Amino acid sequence: MTRVCHSHGEGDTAAAGRALAGDLRPGSVVLLSGDLGAGKTAFVRGIAEGLGIDPAAVSSPTFTLVQEYRGGRLRLQHVDLYRLQPIEVDDLGLDELTLGDVVTAIEWPERLTRSFDDSVAVDILHGEDDARTIRITTTG
Ligand SMILES: Nc1ncnc2c1ncn2[C@@H]1O[C@H](COP(=O)(O)OP(=O)(O)OP(=O)(O)O)[C@@H](O)[C@H]1O
Ligand SMILES: [Mg+2]
Repeated sequence: MTRVCHSHGEGDTAAAGRALAGDLRPGSVVLLSGDLGAGKTAFVRGIAEGLGIDPAAVSSPTFTLVQEYRGGRLRLQHVDLYRLQPIEVDDLGLDELTLGDVVTAIEWPERLTRSFDDSVAVDILHGEDDARTIRITTTG
């Protein structure tokens, strides 16, 4: 199933993430595609808020690879694969990381070397200025 929404600012993008959070279950994987600065991390901040986690805790995990945020209905793991080579992606152990009472949000999923059964693909398309088109596709 695919849904499309139009965002006119960071708050709209976060609101779309917040709305999606209600559909997420233990083991859900959210794959976030889009150019640099499209708003992937902003969307994850919305997911955090929707799960009951302080959104201010969410920052770009570029240097830590995997960040975990607690305090909500489910744990949230935030992964950024931008700088990784395939062998390093394998070494992250995503198979085990995605087990349990946890939602995993992955930026730059093009780098993944496997697929996930219960996944939601979020594609954020950069328009003019602050305009973004967000396409959300659910499988599983
Ligand atoms: N409609 C919008 N939705 C989201 N962010 C927006 C929007 N309009 C402007 N912005 C700005 O664009 C930037 C998006 O940054 P963000 O870190 O969320 O992007 P990203 O896709 O995670 O980038 P990266 O690939 O570098 O991790 C922020 O500075 C935000 O204020
Ligand atoms: Mg980001």
